[in-house]
Amino acid sequence: MKRLIDKLRNEHSLTGQEYARLLACQDTDTLLYMQQQARETTHKHFGNNIYIRGLIEVGNRCRNNCYYCGIRKGNPDVERYALSRENILECCRKGYELGFRTFVLQGGEDPALTDQWTEETVAAIRRRFPDCAITLSLGEKSKEAYERLFRAGANRYLLRHETRNEEHYRKLHPAEMSPTHRLQCLQWLKETGYQTGTGIMVGSPGQTREHLVEDLLFIEQFHPQMIGIGPFIPHHSTPFAAQPAGSVETTIRLISIFRLMHPAALIPSTTALATLSADGREKGILAGANVVMPNLSPGEQRKKYALYDNKAAFGAEAAEGLHELTQRLKAIGYRIVTDRGDYK
Ligand code: 5AD
Repeated sequence: MKRLIDKLRNEHSLTGQEYARLLACQDTDTLLYMQQQARETTHKHFGNNIYIRGLIEVGNRCRNNCYYCGIRKGNPDVERYALSRENILECCRKGYELGFRTFVLQGGEDPALTDQWTEETVAAIRRRFPDCAITLSLGEKSKEAYERLFRAGANRYLLRHETRNEEHYRKLHPAEMSPTHRLQCLQWLKETGYQTGTGIMVGSPGQTREHLVEDLLFIEQFHPQMIGIGPFIPHHSTPFAAQPAGSVETTIRLISIFRLMHPAALIPSTTALATLSADGREKGILAGANVVMPNLSPGEQRKKYALYDNKAAFGAEAAEGLHELTQRLKAIGYRIVTDRGDYK
């Protein structure tokens, strides 16, 4: 088994069967070895530097009805909001002062939010913060919209494919959502010139080991610059309310595999991981993650952006908690750096 891990580290590629064996492995020594190899790989590329991204949740209105997501259209219990451009710029200003040089604008697919409005917002951030990276995480759009936003100054785009298996995709999403279209969007993003991020939820309802192998092979071949993986966590007013949460252990195992597969990738230790386990953030970093994304959204809106129950948004998960985060990362031998941290 260790030979497989060495092969992945050296060649950055395995067969589906080989990935399946890594996922099935129960041997603690082997798993520790994999983690250690992943951590060494991260160290080689990034030293002990952790990049920070300020996450601004721009709004929770959404045209989609994904069965797992707390801000799905069909959830009547969410108080909906949308930040104004001034609100967003103010979040950026605060973030800039704290040392953030990447702003991530994430939100539901709000039908009232026009491409033009988003384009002007991106352009305003670009003018005001010329030395910062702008990352968008606003879902599926037309190729033309992606191009306009890129020209306006956006540099990166996050769009998780959620699952590469079509049948599984249809278990997670209503019929009007198309797995083919999602992959098409990812292709457009890459062609447009974005540093592109994709990823999955670990342990989403119906997910099998075979599905994870398909995700691994897809991400190997797509070669995204960013890979976001977090455990599925149920939200009480979704159709998946009674489903169990994903596994922290499998999540960090996947982080290590992705690190060995794509040594230079930007891999966040996600909020979902930190939500599910008190030291989840640290576990993710020790498994090979090198990015954290503290929440920069206005405090009064944060709890409305509830993708899942008990989502961490304060303390070390918040931009104001940067000091706590710094201390916690220091305790495991890492330091926060404030440069943009582009993919190299
Ligand atoms: N649990 C964990 N992650 C979730 N996301 C949405 N709902 C949940 C949930 N219940 C993730 C999706 C999406 C990202 C913004 O948040 O993967 O792409």
